[in-house]
Amino acid sequence: MIYGKRIRLRAAEREDLPKFVEWMNDPEVTAGLLMRLPLSMADEQRWFDGMAQRPPAERVLVIEIREGDSWRMIGTTGFHEINNVDRESEFGISIGDKSAWNQGYGTEATRLMLQHGFETLNLNRIFLHVHADNPRAIRAYEKVGYVHEGCMRQAVYKNGKYFDVHMMSVLRSEWDQIKDK
Ligand SMILES: CC(C)(COP(=O)(O)OP(=O)(O)OC[C@H]1O[C@@H](n2cnc3c(N)ncnc32)[C@H](O)[C@@H]1OP(=O)(O)O)[C@@H](O)C(=O)NCCC(=O)NCCS
Repeated sequence: MIYGKRIRLRAAEREDLPKFVEWMNDPEVTAGLLMRLPLSMADEQRWFDGMAQRPPAERVLVIEIREGDSWRMIGTTGFHEINNVDRESEFGISIGDKSAWNQGYGTEATRLMLQHGFETLNLNRIFLHVHADNPRAIRAYEKVGYVHEGCMRQAVYKNGKYFDVHMMSVLRSEWDQIKDK
């Protein structure tokens, strides 16, 4: 487990899949994600089987929060692919439990993944893509130190419109400056 102040990150289990499917079929959750079509359990089982073949550091982690004496899962996070030459990876996060939004959990998980990426996986650059119309995500990323790198204009077509996609990143040297703040 990877422990933060109020959250922990654990490996995903096959038993988690029905909840993932529920979250990934919620249009409010997927508004800022590249999910356009309804997702079945069979789709999700195939995704899980594929993920289990990936290197351990690239597998999805489940975000859990404390609830009484136990833990409750609220979403997922992870590094999509790790480039071992350039020491960089793309970060992703989705809190599918909407009752957990806007309470700082996404910010904490994003920061914990920076710590994990730089201090355990020895990455040098962590980057992400975020839709311009996802201000909650952009704000969470800015709060932990992600820097705007550029914008891919009209890169995503969704709900009848094109959306810009921002690129953001944190370098190891920047993390060393901000990690204790
Ligand atoms: C994006 C996401 C990870 C953020 O996590 P969260 O726990 O809800 O966010 P936090 O509470 O940590 O921080 C959100 C910040 O955005 C702010 N915010 C929320 N809605 C906002 C809006 N419409 N405009 C501007 N800021 C907004 C909050 O006030 C907070 O900032 P503050 O602490 O300065 O007040 C989460 O909402 C999520 O997973 N959403 C669905 C999937 C998704 O969009 N994933 C990201 C894909 S790139």
